[in-house]
Amino acid sequence: MEIKLLSGALGAEIKGIDLRDTSNENFKKINDLLLEHKVIFFRNQKITTEQHIALAKKFGPLETHAYVKGLDEHPEIVRIIKAEDEKNQWGENWHSDVSYNTRPTKAVILKSIKIPPVGGDTCFSNMELAWETLDEKIKNKIKNKKAIHSSLGAEFFLDNYKKMQRNKKKNYNEYSNEHPIVRTHPETGKKILFVNWTYTKKIIGLDEKESDEILNKIFEHQARLELTCRFTWTEDAVCIWDNRSVIHFAIADFYPGRGFGYERVMDRIAVEGDHPQ
Ligand SMILES: [Fe+2]
Repeated sequence: MEIKLLSGALGAEIKGIDLRDTSNENFKKINDLLLEHKVIFFRNQKITTEQHIALAKKFGPLETHAYVKGLDEHPEIVRIIKAEDEKNQWGENWHSDVSYNTRPTKAVILKSIKIPPVGGDTCFSNMELAWETLDEKIKNKIKNKKAIHSSLGAEFFLDNYKKMQRNKKKNYNEYSNEHPIVRTHPETGKKILFVNWTYTKKIIGLDEKESDEILNKIFEHQARLELTCRFTWTEDAVCIWDNRSVIHFAIADFYPGRGFGYERVMDRIAVEGDHPQ
């Protein structure tokens, strides 16, 4: 096995592991790598849809997305399609997937189907490191507090995406949940800063002004480049991220108007998480 770190903060590209092998022994290797590096990448993985699902199921029960309709034949797969002339990219700001749910996603297994020749990298930021390096005064202010996460961000942007459909089976009104700002990772016991720019709206117990000021400082801190890594996609790459301990950002640098209008297609499977503690 070969491990190439993507940065000093998090992320590793792995060679020499067969993702089609769902034996407990091989899965333990993959999960250990995930816990250590928080996001792991594998290139040239010509896995079938069934193999993609089988790998995801090793992490736990699969999740149906709150807002986006899955494939007819495999509803657990959300096909993320960006049209050639689309100006936006799904997930184009810092977030942790569906953090507004009672039980936000544990992990995501994303496979690239069609990748533009330029643009569309994904960035990840390490929220364990973000907590460690956060200003002490802010730490003391927020360490036992909860924040409100709202699905408004997801609700708002979905209608703008031409090639993706709503999950009509679900009631897609806006909803919100409260989560501890600092959660403990259920597998490693590490503290994690669990707020994000897209979905976290307010710190409970602070007035609006103070909550906004502190959240804005945290959002700036989380986005500091020394906490991040960046992955440049190729076709048939698989990315697995621990959605509890990273936030991510899909860079929308396609600019159809500047001649960079390409279609991009990804298959996303998410694994159910637990109630953040
Ligand atoms: Fe996302």
